[in-house]
Amino acid sequence: MHIGQQDVEMVIGVARSAGDLVRRMRRRGLTAVRGKANEIDLVTEADLASESLIRQTLARLYPSVVLWGEESNEPPDAPYFWLVDPIDGTVNYARGLGYTAVNIALQESDRTLLAVTYSIGEDLVYYARPGEGAMVREGNGQERRLKVNNINRLRNALLSTGFPYHRAESADNNAAEFAYFMPRSTGVRAMGSAALDLAHVAAGVTAAYWEAWVNPWDLAPGALLVREAGGQVTTYDGREWNVGDNHVVASNGQPALHAAVLEGIRVARAQLTETRLALPA
Ligand code: IPD
Ligand code: CA
Ligand code: CA
Repeated sequence: MHIGQQDVEMVIGVARSAGDLVRRMRRRGLTAVRGKANEIDLVTEADLASESLIRQTLARLYPSVVLWGEESNEPPDAPYFWLVDPIDGTVNYARGLGYTAVNIALQESDRTLLAVTYSIGEDLVYYARPGEGAMVREGNGQERRLKVNNINRLRNALLSTGFPYHRAESADNNAAEFAYFMPRSTGVRAMGSAALDLAHVAAGVTAAYWEAWVNPWDLAPGALLVREAGGQVTTYDGREWNVGDNHVVASNGQPALHAAVLEGIRVARAQLTETRLALPA
């Protein structure tokens, strides 16, 4: 399947329409905010409306491509599929913090052919295709190429991460990793959208991001953004990250920095008595 600039524009259009819809719904006031896996893992009527708009529009534009979205969560049995997070950062969205995104990847099995992350709060589109570089487009249409930064010491690195929804039920909740990096780095941010955390590594804002217990729709677009911007994306044990991996370290690709993040995670996790990271080896 060849993905041309016309496809890029179509998918950007879909992500933007979904973003417009959820912004409008937020302004009108949300009525149905409920817990999913537990009471801090939220879903709103806008998550459902966004996924359904994306599904209907993409089905019309690409009838042969199925869709794997977070809210319907039916894993595909076809090589080509859309991976969709209709709102990444739902807790932020429900509470009124603008750090939220619409995340869409086109997959050919494990390979991401197109990545679009639409930053809802800022009206910015991040997008990439393999071998074509990663770009950010502002609301006024101006574009620039994304490039990771070149920070190579942890002390100078601004980092980001996120905490899993099972944080109260398990000690394997990223607290040990956070405690390791907090005093050793310039800062650790946990803003609540994995999609935007990855976009910020790609844009050279942060030097690295790590997280576990994340899903393919959180990571697939951003992993391509980071790689196309010159960065590196691996698992916690340093293997190249693949769409089936639920833990990730994305960095600017500076070998010393990436190694320092992997080492910090290893040291922090060695202190855990319980290891529940149910991951492919
Ligand atoms: C969540 C966000 C958050 C991350 C969680 C994700 P959601 O996605 O990306 O930053 O820490 O692991 O589940 O639930 O807002 O779509
Ligand atoms: Ca998400
Ligand atoms: Ca979501």
